[in-house]
Amino acid sequence: MKIAVIGTGYVGLVTGACLAKSGHNVVCIDKNQNKISDLKKGIAPFFEPGLSELLSNPNLSFDLDFDEADIVMCCVGTPTDSNGEVDLSAVNKVIKKHAHKGEFFVMKSTVPIGTCDKIEHPNVIMNPEFLRQGNAIKDTLEPDRIVTGVQNQESHQVIKDLYEPFNAPIIFTDLKTAELSKYAANAYLATKISFINEFANFCEKTGADFKKFQQSLKYDTRIGPEFLEAGVGFGGSCLPKDLKAILNQADPQDFHVLKGAEKANKIQKQKIVEKLKSQMDLRGRKIGVLGLSFKPNTDDMRDAPSLDIIQSLQQEGANVACYDPKAKSEHNTCKNPYEVCDKSDALLILTEWDEFRGLDLKKARSLMKGDKLLDGRNIYEPDEVRAAGFNYLGIGL
Ligand code: UGA
Repeated sequence: MKIAVIGTGYVGLVTGACLAKSGHNVVCIDKNQNKISDLKKGIAPFFEPGLSELLSNPNLSFDLDFDEADIVMCCVGTPTDSNGEVDLSAVNKVIKKHAHKGEFFVMKSTVPIGTCDKIEHPNVIMNPEFLRQGNAIKDTLEPDRIVTGVQNQESHQVIKDLYEPFNAPIIFTDLKTAELSKYAANAYLATKISFINEFANFCEKTGADFKKFQQSLKYDTRIGPEFLEAGVGFGGSCLPKDLKAILNQADPQDFHVLKGAEKANKIQKQKIVEKLKSQMDLRGRKIGVLGLSFKPNTDDMRDAPSLDIIQSLQQEGANVACYDPKAKSEHNTCKNPYEVCDKSDALLILTEWDEFRGLDLKKARSLMKGDKLLDGRNIYEPDEVRAAGFNYLGIGL
């Protein structure tokens, strides 16, 4: 099948590369000339493990435009404004410019419920994307499930053919239900994270053993072990955005749980700064920060908790020195973790990069002025950190 994928962001580029790997003939389209020139040379516009290796596939090409395809896939961004209003201008441009060039038009962008019903095309398919940044290739090649909203039998068949090599259960439904399934998955994950963060805070207050408590939940097969890591709050370009968007579409008296999840996430970021503040006056202090990206294995800084936390630290009068292995951020000025530690009064872990797990804690401590280590992602064994001479603080610990 000839597939034209419009938009070379995380969803478009990873989907295109994986469909090409599975044997389809894919052209990835983007209006940005520089991006297309780089992609033709095998240079990815962002860091994603395993992606660069897939770009040289002969089934995969890159271009500014195309003439026709069996399937046109819309993979452009759908950002929200501060009220949660979804900006569909990029999606609408794709529909106008490209939809008619394909026999089937597949919407992969996350769009408000009812958007696909309005598209004038004989074969509209809503096929939401569930890949995670940092794990995107595996998530795409080995999906838990494929959700597809279709309008007719022809679309049903084309989806079966398209995803045949992926060997995953396919849920066929209508357009609206497929649109909702994406928002609901992200809203649930966000809720699960806020749930564990709030219980972590409660463990701290009551003296309950958070790690054992967390284990007791993870072993319950109805709850499951994933997305139960307490931390500095969820970020990224999806969970916060999609929570806002679903709340924006709903009536004000609906979705109390989701409103709570959003509020708890805001508070969680403030709590990190309060925790440090309870230990020392932050004015004039140097706070070393390890990790800036919203999660490991990505350079993405969109809605990263580090941004709010650093801003609050600076408002409290602290000086901040940061290191992240990949983050594209103006704050990422130190060359390595030890430069961050140099004469720092406290060390703050905000992203759980593997590199930080292997930190020489004794060396880090010897370079620092103060002894506080706030492990915002619970990556260390508290006793090991204490043995290196630190005063350890964790989340829920
Ligand atoms: C999320 C969803 O997980 C994907 O299924 C979805 O396709 C994607 O959004 C999207 O809509 O495009 P992503 O934003 O890449 O994926 O990252 P997640 O792995 O979901 O992490 C989001 C945030 O939650 C990160 O800041 C992470 O640190 C935090 N998190 C995650 C926790 O604090 N605790 C956890 O246990 C898990």
